[in-house]
Amino acid sequence: MVGAHDSHRANLPEFLRDGGSTLFPEEVGLLGDVRGKTLLHLQCNSGGDSISLAGLGARVTGVDISDDAVTSARKLARQVGARVRFERADLYDWLREASREGRRFDAVFASYGVVCWLPDLVAWAGSIERILEPSACFVLVDFHPVADIFDEHGNHARDYPAGGEPMYLQEGVGDYVAASGGSLTPSGYLEGATGFLNSEGANLFRWGLGEVVTALAEAGLRITALHEYPYTNGERCFAGMRELPGRRLAPPENVPAIPLMYGIRAERD
Ligand SMILES: C[S@@+](CC[C@H](N)C(=O)[O-])C[C@H]1O[C@@H](n2cnc3c(N)ncnc32)[C@H](O)[C@@H]1O
Repeated sequence: MVGAHDSHRANLPEFLRDGGSTLFPEEVGLLGDVRGKTLLHLQCNSGGDSISLAGLGARVTGVDISDDAVTSARKLARQVGARVRFERADLYDWLREASREGRRFDAVFASYGVVCWLPDLVAWAGSIERILEPSACFVLVDFHPVADIFDEHGNHARDYPAGGEPMYLQEGVGDYVAASGGSLTPSGYLEGATGFLNSEGANLFRWGLGEVVTALAEAGLRITALHEYPYTNGERCFAGMRELPGRRLAPPENVPAIPLMYGIRAERD
């Protein structure tokens, strides 16, 4: 689906070269000043956020398991002239190897549709803790698991996620960039690919928010912020979502607010 997603991004290299950013204020605020810091971007996808973080002055390494995503990210970095290193790997393997080699980072970051791909939160949190420098931070911004209990019409349809319960998504990952209606294309929206259908299903893992926070805390990290937001950055999770300023999406006005996204900052002592 990388090609379909990329097909909607108008002028992204020029936009980033001119100092534009694909980041949202939530992650920028949680990360704080990244100038001069080494930053590991896990599950970086096609690299727009990694290059935006480099634009803020960080020395960025992006890691993703997808060949197509990493190829696209490397091409984008070349076009922008950004010095970001992209590595294709399974994050569990990559973190184990990095820790063995003694690699350390001032910040680790992951966002927007990442926890659902993790079969093991304890190994994930522990391996992140091991590659953080003292006083370094881990920042995670993701979609809130409570939104997952509802179907697209807001009916309470599923249990609250727990235990990493596997879920097979027959239709696979769709063209969420097109569905976001411009929320994920700050450089401009192109019609691009239409009617994209994924030929591959996806295996996801359902985790609750408490389990994510507990895994980080038990790995020895100190949680210094846990924010919940009643809107999403980019994900059209319900029918009739309305667009808010700042590329945000929220349920219709008459729907009582629930958290749709969360952000965590965890620090190493
Ligand atoms: C929805 S994307 C995250 C969005 C991303 N933050 C962005 O800026 O576009 C999820 C990413 O996780 C990656 N991924 C899934 N499992 C992974 C794993 N085990 N190791 C590394 N990357 C993984 C996928 O290839 C995909 O690019």
